[in-house]
Amino acid sequence: MNTPKIVLLPGDGIGPEIVGAARRVLDAVGEFEYEEHLIGGAAIDAHGTALTDEVLDACRAADAVLLGAVGGPKWDTTDPDKPRPEQGLLGLRKGLGLYANLRPVRPSPALLDASPLRRDRIEGTDLVVVRELTGGIYFGEKTRTDDSASDACVYTAEEVERIARVAFESAQRRRGRVTSVDKANVLETSRLWREVVSRVAADYPDVELDHMLVDNAAMQLVANPTRFDVIVTENMFGDILSDEAAMLTGSLGMLPSASLGGDGPGLFEPVHGSAPDIAGRGIANPLATFLSVAMLLRDGLGRAEEAGRVERAVDAALESGLRTADLGAPEGDAATTEQMTEAVLGALG
Ligand code: IPM
Ligand code: MG
Repeated sequence: MNTPKIVLLPGDGIGPEIVGAARRVLDAVGEFEYEEHLIGGAAIDAHGTALTDEVLDACRAADAVLLGAVGGPKWDTTDPDKPRPEQGLLGLRKGLGLYANLRPVRPSPALLDASPLRRDRIEGTDLVVVRELTGGIYFGEKTRTDDSASDACVYTAEEVERIARVAFESAQRRRGRVTSVDKANVLETSRLWREVVSRVAADYPDVELDHMLVDNAAMQLVANPTRFDVIVTENMFGDILSDEAAMLTGSLGMLPSASLGGDGPGLFEPVHGSAPDIAGRGIANPLATFLSVAMLLRDGLGRAEEAGRVERAVDAALESGLRTADLGAPEGDAATTEQMTEAVLGALG
């Protein structure tokens, strides 16, 4: 078998620290060829653009892409003519055709008391947010004058149908339940969304479908998270709800994601951002990136066994009691990125 080629895109802020740690985890479970490239603010500094054609081509030619995070105060701007780090990530998602973003939320047993929510609320939570990733308001036409601005939200039936199928197929492998989240009481795109999802549901009689308005879904996620199995939703609702859902696992530092759907490689990245406030201090939680490595192995390379090993090693490191600062470790007692990485590598054996 050929050695799989993985493109590493560390990006900005804590990105290089967590991707560096993730590479050690990858090396512990297999043999891979790596290529490392700039994206986001780092690419703006070097090339004046957040994603160069060369980097996009390199990603297209790879078997999988692992990304850290992009953005930071250095590049923050409201000037529509200036490049922004996020354009790198959005360009990559669009350029690779990655319309399906999977964000599984399952609190590690060792972290049930690390969530700001009560243990009895979150115990048993096991859901996945299936977020549409290449349409909607993120990619609609934008206009801007000095005193007005607009962002168009557009969806075609085809875009809704293909993400709905991802959700129903995922539900068939899970507990057979899809909740489609929209704002059909207000938005035309949501009414199309609801119609199309309902129609597609007929092809999956073994899956139970319900529809939920996004404001209610935001409330139910913290009030009654165990009621959810698969949540399918449009791009921006999925962005917001997945940050909220992350807190069920104790920290945004725990949530991995996979972006799939194109003909080429998948993109794997932690859900959290570049955390510029702690960048370079060696204290970032690398676990969301390690869990993204597990998704890369399973969904990107078809290596389910190695994926399971990484996931069990993450659980073992947490069971040993190690906590990074974001997981509520008492001041002065928090594990560093290095310590957490060593613990996971140790558990991998
Ligand atoms: C995410 C992030 C991105 C998004 C940003 C960095 C553009 O918040 O992956 O959830 O909004 O999609
Ligand atoms: Mg987000």
